[in-house]
Amino acid sequence: MLSIGMIGAGFVAGFHAKSLRSVRNVKLTGVCAPKGAKELARAARKDGLGGAKVYKTIEELCKAVDVVGIFAPNFARLDIMRDIARACENGAELKGIICEKPLARNLQEADVLARMAKALHVPTAYFENQIHMPSIVEARQQLAAVEQTMGAAHLARSAEEHGGPHEPWFWDPTQQGGGVCCDMGCHSIAVAMYILTPSGRPPDYLEPISVTAEMALLKWGKEPWLGRLKERGVDYSATPAEDYSLVTIEFRDPETGVVSVAQATNSWMYDAPGLRLLMEAFGPGYSYEVNSLRSPGGMFISDAAAAAVGDSELALEKSQASRGALILQHNEPSLYGYIDEWRDAIAAFENGKDALLNFEYGRTVTMLIMAAYMAHEKKHKIDLTDPKTLQELDRYVPLIQQGKGGKVLLGAR
Ligand SMILES: NC(=O)c1ccc[n+]([C@@H]2O[C@H](COP(=O)([O-])OP(=O)(O)OC[C@H]3O[C@@H](n4cnc5c(N)ncnc54)[C@H](O)[C@@H]3O)[C@@H](O)[C@H]2O)c1
Repeated sequence: MLSIGMIGAGFVAGFHAKSLRSVRNVKLTGVCAPKGAKELARAARKDGLGGAKVYKTIEELCKAVDVVGIFAPNFARLDIMRDIARACENGAELKGIICEKPLARNLQEADVLARMAKALHVPTAYFENQIHMPSIVEARQQLAAVEQTMGAAHLARSAEEHGGPHEPWFWDPTQQGGGVCCDMGCHSIAVAMYILTPSGRPPDYLEPISVTAEMALLKWGKEPWLGRLKERGVDYSATPAEDYSLVTIEFRDPETGVVSVAQATNSWMYDAPGLRLLMEAFGPGYSYEVNSLRSPGGMFISDAAAAAVGDSELALEKSQASRGALILQHNEPSLYGYIDEWRDAIAAFENGKDALLNFEYGRTVTMLIMAAYMAHEKKHKIDLTDPKTLQELDRYVPLIQQGKGGKVLLGAR
């Protein structure tokens, strides 16, 4: 039985606490966060997840648990990792460190995180839930024999879209790392790469050979949306970020030389019922599709009853309406892969190993995200087989991340 401590107690930590109801051999025993820790610990105790207590410092938390999860904002990653390292130097005996996506805002930060974890000799898990989505995993398993005969998928199209993030820090490119490409492109790029990876190969098996990208500010740079963001303390006329991105990556199988293509589309302007994850895989002679907005469940709320709606997000993440015909997903932690990413990490940590996706894998995804920003900025294809380009990427901080998105974004003022 492993005890878990959560660093951060906001939106995603709440999702993870719900997921832990369906994971064996774990208890949630600690939470540490400037906001929401008491509420999360109370909810976890109510759910029978373990005697979750609030800890004032990360060091105290690390000394009291077996596994810590970094579920705090992207800008806090390095400070948190330093606190974890200090705790380990002072006697904390961690069996695992988890970090939510994205691992970091850029490659310099990702390198520090990966290096620190390695130096601590603590196994890691990079939480990228979409690779664990049961529908994707099941489709791959059912097609394993077909793939063996016909070959791996050669085109993957993936998308994650919704109407915009919930907290102001996500909108600030200097704090978050960019706009939608950094926030959700990391999901779509990772899952597309996974769809293209031949069965039985590790998740970083394919060699990325080139990246092209287009980004724009299509909705949130215009009124009345610009004004609505201002009311929330976000000024997109001063520090804009992309609310749309399309990234195309070419991969090569290092053994056969076969080339495949991933297309990742992400947006924060998806004015539709709620969050949609869309994956399409095309192989030689076969295909599959996953659309998280298709559900056997639905609800209807009339105008007369709409005033009584408490929280429309109870039915669906990033739900955009509280009346009419609504989509109902009864188990989002399972649908999006959260439960299975926990099961994978816990099983690995119990055996002293990294999860299927570790911090090094998170670094690879960060590199692809940086290459996408560079491609957009330079307006040409980025050649990832060129050692000079790889060196440049190591130090690269996108203009959007620097708060200078106005120089490179179509649609910015
Ligand atoms: N897998 C997914 O689909 C998914 C979904 C949402 C968020 N995320 C990721 O999870 C992370 C957190 O996002 P969120 O939506 O929960 O954010 P949030 O703003 O809702 O919550 C952040 C939490 O972290 C705490 N926090 C802030 N600074 C901290 C610090 N220095 N040390 C410790 N805690 C601190 C806050 O008090 C709050 O409790 C982000 O990296 C985000 O990219 C992943």
